[in-house]
Amino acid sequence: MFKILEAEQLSANVYKQVILAPRVAKSCEPGQFIIVRVDETAERIPLTICDYDREAGTITIVFQPIGVSTYKLVNLKAGDSILDFVGPLGRPSDLVTDDFEEVKKKKIVFIAGGVGTAPVYPQAKWLHEHGIDCDIIVGARTKDLLIFEKEMSAVGNLHLCTDDGSYGFKGVGTAMLEKLVSEGREFNHCVAIGPMIMMKFACLTTKKLGIPTVVSMNPIMVDGTGMCGGCRVMVGDEVKYACVDGPEFDGHKIDFDQAMKRAAMYKTEEGRRLLKYQEGETHHGGCGLCGGDK
Ligand code: NAD
Ligand code: FES
Repeated sequence: MFKILEAEQLSANVYKQVILAPRVAKSCEPGQFIIVRVDETAERIPLTICDYDREAGTITIVFQPIGVSTYKLVNLKAGDSILDFVGPLGRPSDLVTDDFEEVKKKKIVFIAGGVGTAPVYPQAKWLHEHGIDCDIIVGARTKDLLIFEKEMSAVGNLHLCTDDGSYGFKGVGTAMLEKLVSEGREFNHCVAIGPMIMMKFACLTTKKLGIPTVVSMNPIMVDGTGMCGGCRVMVGDEVKYACVDGPEFDGHKIDFDQAMKRAAMYKTEEGRRLLKYQEGETHHGGCGLCGGDK
């Protein structure tokens, strides 16, 4: 069992929990995810790691309840325990694994949308701890939905935006990026994390501006094992699985319209059967360790 040390509501429908999971905290890196299973009857929930403390042995998760299993998680308080907390899974962010001297030369901008703000935090924090400056654009529909303002301002140059103008710049994160560039700011690496539609438009904008962009395809994950086929995504002309090969990919190579259409189809039994039929043996890819049933 994994003990919840802190449980906090961050905004109307967003919750944060700090979980005692020393073995995960010891080896995780920014960009990776964990799978939570609240109890034996709950579904597996893949969540990107939002912070970790190796000394305290803790992992911070941020989530939005949307189904029975996430509502079960919301109802747990500090002192309660979770049955399974598995990780770290997926590949760390390129910013952490690429040649450090090359990363140091990059002019990095993050675009975070809504709940997607939380998984941006460990990457920006890692850069800050390694002496690398970055700009962070955080967008939310309204002031009440902005999260991690204090944490983000401590690790980067923060640009806050709200769709309704109730706080910070009035407009979406991509509009803020265009404004910064029009004011003379230069960026050569962007990481966009948020709803699929936001990542799609972030990529359209950065393509136009000539800024290579990485996105996190966490939203299409289902079981997080490479086995269900939920996170199958075309990256250029290659079949990839977000949970095994990602979650982060070159956003300019992703066909977001196809990915969103597929994610919608995957929600129904009929859609899953059709995808399985159309995609044949590439429908799912195994765990990534043994090659599975590829
Ligand atoms: P939301 O719908 O409130 O959008 C958040 C912000 O994204 C908006 O305020 C805006 O700034 C930006 N945005 C939305 N549409 C845009 C567009 N067309 N162009 C430019 N910017 C746009 O999102 P929310 O309810 O806070 O978050 C829920 C979503 O976040 C879910 O879809 C979930 O899957 C996703 N999410 C993604 C990740 C990830 O790793 N990519 C992680 C956590 C959550
Ligand atoms: Fe099931 Fe990746 S989430 S295959």
